[in-house]
Order: sequence, then C-alpha cells, then structure tokens
Amino acid sequence: MATFTERMGPVLLFWLGLCLSGTWAVDKGNFKTCDQSAFCKRQRAITPGESPYRALLETMELTNTKLTLQLINDNNKVRLLLELYRLQGNITRVKINELKPLKPRYEVPDVLIREPPTEPLSLLSQDENGVVLSLGAESQRVIVSARPFRLDIVEGRDVLMSLNSRGLLGFEHLRMRKDTQADPEADNKEATDPPSQVETTKEEEEKVEDGMWEETFKSHTDSKPNGPSAVSLDFSLPGVEHVYGIPEHADTLKLKTTDSGDPYRLYNLDVFQYELYNPMALYGSVPVMLAHNAQRTTGIFWLNAAETWVDISSNTAGKTVFGKMLDYVQGSSETPQTDVRWISESGIIDVFLMLGPTPREVFSQYASLTGTQAFPPLASLGYHQCRWNYNDQEDVRAVDAGFDEHDIPYDFIWLDIEHTDGKRYFTWDPHKFASPKEMLQGLMDKKRKMVAIVDPHIKVDTNYKIHNEIRSRGFYIKNKDGADYEGWCWPGSAGYPDFTRPDMRAWWAGQFAYDQYEGSMENLYTWNDMNEPSVFNGPEVTMHKDALHGSWEHRDMHNLYGFYVQMATAQGLIERSGGVERPFVLTRAVFAGSQRLGAVWTGDNAAEWDHLKISIPMCLSLGLVGISFCGADVGGFFKSPSSELLVRWYQTGAYQPFFRAHAHLDTPRREPWLFGPENTALIREAVRQRYTFLPYWYQLFYHAYQTGEPVMRPLWVEYPQDPATFALDDEFLLGRDLLVHPVTEEGARGVTAYLPGKDEVWFDIHTFQKHNGVQNLYIPVTMSSIPVFQRGGSIIPRKLRVRRSSACMEDDPYTLYVALDNRRTAEGELYIDDGHTFNFEKREFIHRKFSFTNNVLSSVNLEPDAQFTTKSWVERIIILGASKPSKITLRTADDQENQLEFDFDASMSVLTIRKPGMNAGADWTMTLQ
Ligand code: GLC
Repeated sequence: MATFTERMGPVLLFWLGLCLSGTWAVDKGNFKTCDQSAFCKRQRAITPGESPYRALLETMELTNTKLTLQLINDNNKVRLLLELYRLQGNITRVKINELKPLKPRYEVPDVLIREPPTEPLSLLSQDENGVVLSLGAESQRVIVSARPFRLDIVEGRDVLMSLNSRGLLGFEHLRMRKDTQADPEADNKEATDPPSQVETTKEEEEKVEDGMWEETFKSHTDSKPNGPSAVSLDFSLPGVEHVYGIPEHADTLKLKTTDSGDPYRLYNLDVFQYELYNPMALYGSVPVMLAHNAQRTTGIFWLNAAETWVDISSNTAGKTVFGKMLDYVQGSSETPQTDVRWISESGIIDVFLMLGPTPREVFSQYASLTGTQAFPPLASLGYHQCRWNYNDQEDVRAVDAGFDEHDIPYDFIWLDIEHTDGKRYFTWDPHKFASPKEMLQGLMDKKRKMVAIVDPHIKVDTNYKIHNEIRSRGFYIKNKDGADYEGWCWPGSAGYPDFTRPDMRAWWAGQFAYDQYEGSMENLYTWNDMNEPSVFNGPEVTMHKDALHGSWEHRDMHNLYGFYVQMATAQGLIERSGGVERPFVLTRAVFAGSQRLGAVWTGDNAAEWDHLKISIPMCLSLGLVGISFCGADVGGFFKSPSSELLVRWYQTGAYQPFFRAHAHLDTPRREPWLFGPENTALIREAVRQRYTFLPYWYQLFYHAYQTGEPVMRPLWVEYPQDPATFALDDEFLLGRDLLVHPVTEEGARGVTAYLPGKDEVWFDIHTFQKHNGVQNLYIPVTMSSIPVFQRGGSIIPRKLRVRRSSACMEDDPYTLYVALDNRRTAEGELYIDDGHTFNFEKREFIHRKFSFTNNVLSSVNLEPDAQFTTKSWVERIIILGASKPSKITLRTADDQENQLEFDFDASMSVLTIRKPGMNAGADWTMTLQ
C-alpha cells in the first residue's frame, strides 16, 4: 500500500483518504456550476424576449438541397450564416456559423458516418415577413420568420418544433482583444468585410465581462486566447411533457426541469463519488435529446463537442394530474410545452432535428447519422469478473478455478492497472505477471478470455518505449505554450497522446499487434479508462481547455477525446487479427457515435441500493441515444455490499447488457462464492439465467447493429401511446419481448410491476403464470426472485445446458419458448454465426424466423442468401398458454413426417414438446392437432 500511495502524489492521497474514510459525497466544490462557468452564466443570463437576430431575406439562396440565409444581430451588426438542409429519412439539419469568422470555428469531425444525403427543398411562399419551404413528402413545412428570426417546423396544422421562438439564440463572434492585441490580419481584410466581424463595437466593449478572456476556477487559470465564443439556441416542443436522453447523468430517465437549479451539464469528467439525482456532468456526453408524447417522438442532436449545458423548462412542470384536470375543466389549460436551451462554449451550431414520428424512426434517423451499435463478440455478452486488482497469475488461476468449483459460468476475467509494470500500459509487472502467455493459454484452454486495462495517459519516463515513441513523433497534446502537456494520473506525471490525429491513432492501433504488445494473445481484449481525460491535478480533474491539438484548443473537442481513444483501440484489436476478429473494448468516456466502438460502463458507483436503482435509468438513457452495450459495476465499485445487495445486483446485472462485477482496490474480496453457500447458489442461478438467454441477447445485439434500436429499452418505446409508461424507470424491456422488474429495494417482500399493452398477456418466465396487461401487478418476492416476463406473442430461443463459458455452449441445443398471445399466435427470431469474426458481414450466418399461427409452428429462413452451418439442434419446445393437442406432427424440409412426444400441464396450460430434433438452421413446420 505504501508504494502505491507514494507513487500517486498528493492529489491521490486526498483521493484515497476520502475513499477510506467512507463518507460518500461528491466534492461539489471541485466542479463548476453554471454560474462558475463564465460562458454558461453569460448565455443563461439572456432571458426570453425579442431576439436581436433578424433574417436578411434578400440574402436567401435556395438550391435544390440547401437554403442559405444571413442573420444579423441588430445590437452589434454581426452577421451569421444559416444553412438549412432536408436530409433523407425525415431529418432537418440547421447549421449556423459566423458569416466571416476571424478564424475557422471547430466543426466536429468523425462522428457522422458520412455526409448525410439530402432531399429536395422547395419554396412554397415568400413575402417580407419570411419564407415557407416544403420539407419532402411528409406535408411538412419550415417557416422562416424574419423579424425576429425564428424557425418553425410544421406538419399539417401542428407545430413540431420551433427554434429561437423564445429569442435565446446567442452567438459570440470571435473578436480581437482590443486592450492587449492588434489584429495581425486587419490590414489584409477586404473593405467589404462587415466591420463588426473583427472589431468589438463600442456597445460591446462596455459589456466585456470577467471570464471572457481569462477565467480562473480554484487554482487554475484558463487563458482563453480566442476570447468568448459560446453558442446557444432554444427549442420549443409544443405538446411535449417528456424529454429523455442527454446522457451521461446519474438521474431519472425522464429529464427534469432545470429552472430551480443548474442545467444538465455535458462535459466528460472523472467525478469522484458521484452523487445521484442531479444534473452534474459525468464521464460521457451524448448531446441527443428525445421528446415524446402519445402522438409523436422527435429528437434533437446538437453536434458540438465543447462543454455544453442544457436547460429544460415546462409549462406543466409541478402541476399534479388533478391540477391539469382542473385547468381542463375550467377551460384554462394551455397546451403543454417543453422548452429547452442548449449552450456550448465554442464551435458552431449544427443541429439535426429528427422528426420521427415513431420512436423506431427516431432511432433509425439517429443511426443514419452516427451509425449503430458495434456487433459484439458473443462471449462479451456473458459474465465478466473484474476487480482492482487480481494480484498475480496465481490469483487469476485461483479465481478461474473458483468458478469451476462453484459451477458458475464466466467468459472474461479482468486485470486492472496493477497488472502493469508501474502503470506503463502495454507492459506486465515482471514479478506478478511474469508469464502472461501461459496465463492466457490457461484461460484459452477453458475457452475463456481476459481483458487488460490500457489507459490513455502515458507515464513520462524515458525508459518507457511507448512514451519515447509518442514524444519523438510529436504525438502528445501540447500545453498552451507549445510544450508537451503533462498532468498527474495513475503513473504520476503523464502525457496525453493526441488521439484526434489520424496518424496518432494509426500508431496506437499498431501497438496492439501481437509482436508489439508483448505477452498478448488473441483472447486478450482491452479496457480504456480515464479517457475523459482524467487529469488528477487539472481543472475539474481534467485537461486544461487551452491545451492544444494542433491548431485547435482542447476546449473545442474535449467531449470527443474518449471517443477517439476507444476508436484507436478498437482499430488496433481489429488490425492485430488482420481484420478478421471483432474487437471488444470497454470505455468510460463516450460521445455521440461511441456506439460503433464497443461497450461502456457507468464508472465508479457505490455499493448502495440507490446506485443499484440508478443503473437502470443510466443505461436506458444511453440506449436511447444508440449506446446499447451498457452496464454498471455489479456489487458497486466503492464500499462493500451486504450479501443481500450483492445478490440483488447480480440478479439485476444478469438482465442488463454489459454484465461485469467490479470492485475498488480497498474493498474486501467478493468473488461470488465468498458469501456463504446460499448466496453463492443465488448468484449462480442469476448468472446461469443470463447464459440461458444468450441466444436472445445475441439476436438483440444483431438487431441493434442493424437498426440502432436499443437492446435495453424503456417501456414507452414499445407502448408509445400509454402515458403510464412514460416515466417508468424501475423496470425495462429487453427487445420487445422480455420485461424485467428487478428487485432493487432492501428487504423487499414484493415489487409492483406495470405490465403494459391492453391486448397483451405476459408470462412469468419462472412459473409460466399468465397475466394480462394493462395492470400493476404485485409480485411477492423472496431472495431468489427475479421478476421477468415474456410477452405473449413472442418466441425466445434459449440454451438451457449452461457450461463454463459461452464458447463451451456453442454447439448446444436450443429450447424454444413460445408464448402465445390472445389470438394464439407468436413470432420470434434466431440468429447464429461464429460468434467472433466479421464473417457475418460476408453473410455467413443463420437468421431464422419462427412463427406460430393456426396451431402450426414453423421455422423459415429470414435471409436466404446468408450461409452458415451449425451443429445446434432444437431439443425442446415449450408452448405457454397452449391447449392440449391430440397429436403433434413434425414435417421437415425433405417432407419427412414424424409424430412428436409431448407433455401437457393443464393447470398452467404449458405444452412441452420433447426432442423434436431439427437442426437449428433447418426449415420445418410442426402441426398441433
Ligand atoms: C477508475 C475506474 C475504475 C478502476 C480504477 C483503477 O476509478 O473507473 O473502474 O478500477 O480507475 O484503474
């Protein structure tokens, strides 16, 4: 312990001190409020009213695909250029930049998967007050009002969204600092330049405020050589009372109004001991908000990677249902409306209005811009065993053996920072991990894998090859004076590679080659942590905003750093296999587009019941913005869980996408068998349930990869017209067909689950008891209960012979769970491929559709041009909600007919068909008579 703390420096001592003292509270003083963030304070001080911006209609140009129009700020005469595009798939893009900025303003690269294809725009009418354009085929129009400037998107008679309707558009133009600097380019400026683009007007000079050209927070001064550069804009959403998204926050699924506190903040930060139910920033930032009511879902994607704040207000916030009813009866009700305002420190306004109208269409619109979830290796959907740290090879061997001894499956064991040689990533501690290949081979023999951590801060040490190379290639981020930026992190003094550079990323990717990363093997995967980036001695525990990435300031792209780290790492894992193997990379920091790169977890939570609860809305919010592969540290990172909490956490985690136990260095060991035989059995059962559902998880991820739809989803996504689902975040759906209401209360005797869908029935997956939607169902629970329901109308393939790891179950047979709906029909899918390569892109897979209708169950090929063979067969079919047949006949593709054996449980209406025996890839029909 002494050497550990010695190496860490004073900041870490403070960090550890807090940790050991056991008081759980974020030190709010370490992080800015909006008032302490000069640009946020300035922009938030603009109050609703008449906007100073006017559209100069005479400057309008309309091509087939683009409208351009100048806006002028009547207070300072600065002109902006607005571009409006209609994009394919019911998306409207609005870009606003300075007409003639003093220097280019940052536009976010690499997040959009391509230049989005446009659709024609056409002029419907024009007069001196504005113009009306038609937006594609949806009978949508955009109305541009000139004085003051505002944009309304209208469909039929409904306003879908209005921009600058509250007059909060703000655009701080770049300017010279009059008191200290001359404009070096002033002489070169053409006389036609609008003078106000390069000068500060009289009026504005009076308004120069603290924090425009320099800002100090705690002991850190941000030099702001470019001066004020914030952008902001308001959006009104008529008819909307529910907005979601803008992760990452430790808050409820339904976002709250922010009138009485701070806006939600998007600024990737390593927040020590984060607090729940508040809008403070966390490790990731995805600037996407969804708005929903019973008629429509829309989305706003604000493509800006600088520090961003989002204000939300609503005219119905705080009104009770009764209050709303009274308004209605008294005829005094106004249409509900949610207003939001986005504020970013720099960059431009580049916003995508995703106009739905269904939740699915919003997911597909967002996926068309930023891509879909990476299709993960099947094994990564299994269980992961992690702690900080597994001490040495013997420890790894013993933990691995413990799983076998206790008959608990797992796929990955993880090594945290202590496995390295002195926090030099890509190395191994020469004593504790002297023969990593032997260790990896041992795991491989059991068809298991390992993840080792590789953080992006690089120890400044001239005996460390990685550091020397990065330095000599000039790949480090620079400080404002042009020297390599240095900060404190785990290794002590560290440099931060500039992952925004493609050449740096290519070099980094090369470090994962088997001949570069000594001791690595193909079953070793990667964890990228601290990539906000975390800088222990930096402002707000992150990088100085005036650090330099080439000519751009860190300020401009802070929220993108972690995205690039994961991108380069995933690229490395792909390249080391010659492009054959799918990567698995876990990241802590994310941005829009991170879904394409791997998995994310919710960082340093605590072994507390509230932290277990919040894992649900946190992962739901990420899923809504495309990032499906999400999980929280099972058991809680800080502190020690009671055995009850640990069991409940395993039970919840088993039904969340990324399922990994993790714990802080200073916590007592907590491998699943350390809490007595009863708890071991409960944990074993939860993990085994996970493994039985792996075929379903895999198919859901294949679907997410194809469509961008979330794997773990809020109920309103499937029941968009049922307001009772709009704020639920203690239960969730996996795909359409599994509803999970984990037990997250201490000492719970029962939970009340809302079962949606007025024509739906839901089957308890354990008892097969059938329940009707719509109802609030009280479910008595014991310690072994995990309330999960299968939707009537669905068919879910499972593998019930659970083994050591997912790979050991590859050829195992399937059991089909057919849950009949009220019309006695059901449908489902099965997706199979090799589980780990990109060969599925070459259409090497099986994708089947099962349907049950008119007492006939059939399996047909959903993608007949795809080719793959499997040894797996169907060993059992369980039909829930069935009646008793007199005989069951199986007809196979070669027209063979067979009578099948079955059992019927009349009390539960469960029909079990034994050993039907078809290959899982074959065509067949089964008739119940
Ligand atoms: C960070 C991570 C945590 C990890 C630790 C040491 O706190 O969030 O998961 O164990 O660093 O690497």
